[in-house]
Amino acid sequence: MSFGVVIIGLGQIGMTSDIGLDPEQYIWSHARAFFAHPAFSLLAGVDPSPTSRAAFEEAYRRPSYATAAEALSAHRPDIVVIAVPTVNHLQALQETLAASRPMAVLCEKPLSYRFDEAVAMTDTCRQANVRLFVNYVRRADPAVREIKQRLNSGQIAQPLKGVVWYSKGLFNNGSHFFDLMQYWLGEMRTYEIVNSGRLLGNDPEPDFMAVFGGGQIQFLSAREEDYSHYTIELVSPSGRLRYDQGGSKVVWQSAIASPESPAYKVLDSAEDEIRNDLNRAQWNIADQMANALCGNKSDICSGDEALSTIQHLTSIKDAL
Ligand SMILES: NC(=O)c1ccc[n+]([C@@H]2O[C@H](COP(=O)([O-])OP(=O)(O)OC[C@H]3O[C@@H](n4cnc5c(N)ncnc54)[C@H](O)[C@@H]3O)[C@@H](O)[C@H]2O)c1
Repeated sequence: MSFGVVIIGLGQIGMTSDIGLDPEQYIWSHARAFFAHPAFSLLAGVDPSPTSRAAFEEAYRRPSYATAAEALSAHRPDIVVIAVPTVNHLQALQETLAASRPMAVLCEKPLSYRFDEAVAMTDTCRQANVRLFVNYVRRADPAVREIKQRLNSGQIAQPLKGVVWYSKGLFNNGSHFFDLMQYWLGEMRTYEIVNSGRLLGNDPEPDFMAVFGGGQIQFLSAREEDYSHYTIELVSPSGRLRYDQGGSKVVWQSAIASPESPAYKVLDSAEDEIRNDLNRAQWNIADQMANALCGNKSDICSGDEALSTIQHLTSIKDAL
């Protein structure tokens, strides 16, 4: 048995990000992931753009539709993926639930730029008895899950101090890393704004210090127009973690007695590289989603967890 999937929005994350890349190596789009994963069958795609629909039909040999209502009434999917621009997420969810009753919706991140809309999305799904998941892809990555286990076991000891660099807006891309910190270190407790920063469109880019259950993290904004910059450095009593280049290089160094002066502790020069699988990020999300749907342990982000991220980011935004 497989779960039937309809994808609403055939843009970058919906379809185009991996077109032309080797399917054995790269699974960056929902279309490729749900087409390839054995727990799912890709039923149809939706996009108002005729060019996008033609590209979808050519790549996946599945039908496409200009509106969600047509696709959902024709296919009655178990899963609906919402991959339209963030400002249209709530509307796409409302259209989905007006036309169908899937088991689950996988919505793109952030749920919304507005807290009230994000609340409406989680409430609407709860009332309709539809599970809501949000595509914070890093939670499904093996490196990220391995770090979570090391934090839980105490191998990466707490409390931590750390730095997160983000670019391209606090809600748009900073939210990936805020969600990751909540996943690793527990819910944010307090914050202090260090610098209000600029607005990128309507998305703020502040520097701030946030205190989570497991430690204190400085969030610093970088300028996306110079280059994308997504890195994390966590300094623990037991060593140092570097999560570089968006997570495509993850390195742990343990604290050890100095070989030259054993009274001192230093970071081990032998680096422990933690394997990531970001080239197949959407496959891993599909995998975690299958676990959740089958009642197994899953690390996928729930609607309520994503709502908590939006709530905290909104309070930071409102304080700027
Ligand atoms: N999780 C991630 O790592 C990740 C990466 C990229 C984008 N995103 C998120 O995915 C969402 C889409 O971003 P994108 O970069 O793919 O944007 P995009 O502009 O490339 O694609 C959006 C697509 O949605 C279509 N669309 C618009 N309104 C629609 C509607 N009512 N019904 C059906 N289709 C509609 C557009 O024609 C377009 O093809 C955003 O929320 C973004 O934040 C997430």
